[in-house]
Amino acid sequence: MNKKIGVKILGTGSYFPKKVLTNADLEKMVETSDEWITTRTGIRERHIAQNDEAASDLALKASEEALKAANLTADKIDLILVATITPDMFFPSTACMLQVKLGANNAAAFDLAAACSGFIYGIATAKGFIESGIYKNILLVGTETLSKITDWKDRNTCVLFGDGAGAMVLSASETNDDVLSVYLGADGSYADLLYMRGGGSLCPTTAESVAAGMHTIRMEGKEVFKAAVPKMALAAQKALELAGKKVSDVKLYIPHQANMRIIEAVAKKIDISMDSVFVNIHKTGNISSATTITALDEAIKSGRIQKGDLVELVAFGGGFTWGAAVIRI
Ligand code: UT7
Repeated sequence: MNKKIGVKILGTGSYFPKKVLTNADLEKMVETSDEWITTRTGIRERHIAQNDEAASDLALKASEEALKAANLTADKIDLILVATITPDMFFPSTACMLQVKLGANNAAAFDLAAACSGFIYGIATAKGFIESGIYKNILLVGTETLSKITDWKDRNTCVLFGDGAGAMVLSASETNDDVLSVYLGADGSYADLLYMRGGGSLCPTTAESVAAGMHTIRMEGKEVFKAAVPKMALAAQKALELAGKKVSDVKLYIPHQANMRIIEAVAKKIDISMDSVFVNIHKTGNISSATTITALDEAIKSGRIQKGDLVELVAFGGGFTWGAAVIRI
């Protein structure tokens, strides 16, 4: 009988654009206050990409770091998976744009759309491809330039989002099984609560669609909040069950960074102390598919987690989609 192929997490990387937009800056743009943003969300500042900086440019920097950490050259990658809701363009995929920038000439490449849960969906996809023996070395990226689809006149949303990218290299292994479990969920009946309507086949781009503001993010924040807490708690518990682990086995929980109050409510619901929850929302804002991976990378670089530690990533986003993964770093 063939030996089961395991997954080894070889390295991670991240990148944030240089420009920082603070709450004080936002006070000059819309009717808001640092006090409101900080107390309602936990966000103090976020990074903003330059006009000529695309999702694939952010992805490139994060990927180069991840490849270096993995001690692997780009030509060894046989699949590039990019999770994003802000692709460079409709097509070709951002994964193809990244492939050429990296010189990953032996890689297949495609994008994956699961909004803020994109990186968890990506882990599940990478795990499946590796365990089935189809691909050996996978570069998985979450990259977002949300500032480019933000309505800077809408105070309900423009204070929330930021730009950034994170990357992970996963590889086939006979000795490791670093992705212990993944749990995914979705419910498209909530599509009307968090979306960008314009530009697709349903509402193609027209002068009217642009004038109607259909090319920027719209969100019913309160309703999204209400759904996010139970779904993230459920995902966290299900992934633990699938991994055969207890809450206390996990060294660090890395939740999607959308709102500090959501993070605290989820921690309470699954009965974990905030001491074992990683938070960097104050300096990043919500960067959708890039939140969990950039936070994981920061936790590794800062020494908050060590080789061999169990970590759980948990996310929730537009769709709705949700998911969690228990991994060993
Ligand atoms: O990543 C995908 C998942 N996304 C999320 O998980 C986001 C989930 N939602 C949230 O994080 C929160 O609902 C928000 C941060 C978006 C909003 O917080 P909230 O506590 O739900 O506030 P609200 O929308 O109920 O608004 C409360 C008040 C309103 O004023 P009135 O009607 O009470 O007079 C808003 O107009 O706060 C007002 N408001 C603001 N005031 C100052 C809304 N945005 C702002 C703002 N500055 N930026």
